[in-house]
Amino acid sequence: MPLEKLHNICSSCTKCELHKTRTNCVFGTGNPQAKLMFVGEAPGEKEDLSGTPFVGAAGKLLDKYLAAVGIAREDVYIANILKCRPPKNRDPLPAEEDACIGYLREQVKIIRPKIIACLGRISAKRLIKEDFKITEEHGKWFERGDYTMCAVYHPAALLRDPRKKEAMLLDMQKIKEKLEEK
Ligand code: URA
Repeated sequence: MPLEKLHNICSSCTKCELHKTRTNCVFGTGNPQAKLMFVGEAPGEKEDLSGTPFVGAAGKLLDKYLAAVGIAREDVYIANILKCRPPKNRDPLPAEEDACIGYLREQVKIIRPKIIACLGRISAKRLIKEDFKITEEHGKWFERGDYTMCAVYHPAALLRDPRKKEAMLLDMQKIKEKLEEK
């Protein structure tokens, strides 16, 4: 299925309650042939209003790290576990993740990235392993079928705790190096 068709289906999704409060479905953005895909948690307010992931404060910080390691945002694909904003940006409910995860799986199948980088704990727990410990396991590589995966801190976590920024830069540099091998 072409990515655009999947986007259209996702935009009219009513599989969970979040469709009732969304302004836009935040499907994903970037290069459909990307070798590197980032997966965040769920849209926030700016993303809900614009329909594009990572455009708010956390997104601007992500842009800075991409620029710092020489990765162009247009070359990657960025999506989230949830496509609709949870009220007041609360954590996704397991039932919401279950309802939505099929869209992400289809996106991955269509894009076939080499590397999937999870942004934060929620995405890492869902995509890498249930007991993922972000403070211990960020920046480590995991092979999952055809995909090489890792997780980095969520940019919003860096805004709350700037001491994590050094680790983030190192992890993003590792991702850039891995990308060059692929
Ligand atoms: N945080 C996320 O996890 N995703 C976004 O799109 C924006 C903020």
